[in-house]
Amino acid sequence: MDSCFRRNDREVEGNVIDPHGGALVNRVLDSREAEKIKRSKLPRLKASDDIILDVEKIAIGAYSPLTDFMCRQDLSSVVDRMKLADGTPWTIPIFLPVGRETARSLPARGNIIISDDKGRDIALMEVKEIYSFPRRKWAEKVYGTQSTRHPGVKRLFDTHDRLVGGDIWMIDKPGFAFEKFNLTPAQTRRVIKKRAWKTVAGFQTRNAPHRAHEYLQKTALCITDGILVHPIIGWKKHGDFRPELVIKAYKTLISKYFPGDSVIFAGLATAMRYAGPREAVFHAIIRKNYGCTHFIVGRDHAGVGDFYDKYEAHRIFDLFPDIGVVPLLMRGPYYCSRCGEVVSDRVCPHAEKWHKHISGTMVRKSLSEGRELPGYIMRKEVFEVLKKAGKQGFI
Ligand code: ADX
Repeated sequence: MDSCFRRNDREVEGNVIDPHGGALVNRVLDSREAEKIKRSKLPRLKASDDIILDVEKIAIGAYSPLTDFMCRQDLSSVVDRMKLADGTPWTIPIFLPVGRETARSLPARGNIIISDDKGRDIALMEVKEIYSFPRRKWAEKVYGTQSTRHPGVKRLFDTHDRLVGGDIWMIDKPGFAFEKFNLTPAQTRRVIKKRAWKTVAGFQTRNAPHRAHEYLQKTALCITDGILVHPIIGWKKHGDFRPELVIKAYKTLISKYFPGDSVIFAGLATAMRYAGPREAVFHAIIRKNYGCTHFIVGRDHAGVGDFYDKYEAHRIFDLFPDIGVVPLLMRGPYYCSRCGEVVSDRVCPHAEKWHKHISGTMVRKSLSEGRELPGYIMRKEVFEVLKKAGKQGFI
């Protein structure tokens, strides 16, 4: 927690922090240019929903300073050094995989159009390189394992092995679910500016909020002017909550238990990678692009099963002293029956026998067994939302 009192002394534009790399990428074409490209006979590459989400993230600057799906030099630098080739910190590969036959049909260099599964033209891409990369090495370095029990590794191994690298310009905004809910970095930056917040904490989540989440958010709010609650609206593994339920549950929590003008609530349309520590840094960088000066990292951030040590996602930030966003490294809150409230080991002196742990697993178990949950694990109103959704609430 010491880090939360470190001042963020990076340059700010107005009152809003600089994006990663210094400038917010904007690769959205104006409508005249877009129309011209749509009429062209350039080769089309049909891409999956996940790729389309990444196309949009690149174009709107969520992945600043990236302007492209990575070429080999950046990808191997990210895998090996957790940096882009130019030395900018970056921990997760952003890549466009295609099958071998498709790879053969594409120009080795030159322009193509990326279209979605309905055949809508979404982006112009200047292909610079088509290549392959050893995926076992990638899995080991990025996920820390080659086990296909890991959902991120399984997904990597199941995908095509030819990668297309090159710059992106968005022709048309993809029409995906929750579009209105997914603000762009420019939009959240405008809200931050308007509210004259100097400090903003980003909160990543893939779950419905329990009391440990709320504790982390409110602890951050004690030292920052506002918070961006930013659930992932993209691919998640089987057994996770559906995005619509996460949104509903958060709307309930925020309307009843947060001062409304201290929260920006929006979705982040990208896939979960479950890459633990590396994903924590990735998540922090993205939220910096959305205007956050601080980023909350709790227990087992973006972790899955027992693949990562509970606080490995804290320690990785020691390697990134110049990342430009302050990590708020917070240890797991629990309910202490002596304190009579949700606390953490930073403020509670009582022995473990008085502690009651709070976790998403407990929430899911209670739901599947039809048991009630004490209010110190989840707000009653939030639990009601989950109960109502029943099995439909899960992927
Ligand atoms: S995550 O995959 O997005 O990290 P989740 O939505 O559960 O999962 O967590 C969001 C944030 O809250 C992460 O920073 C995570 O470390 C933190 N967190 C979740 N549950 C707890 C808990 N019981 N104690 C401490 N931190 C937690």
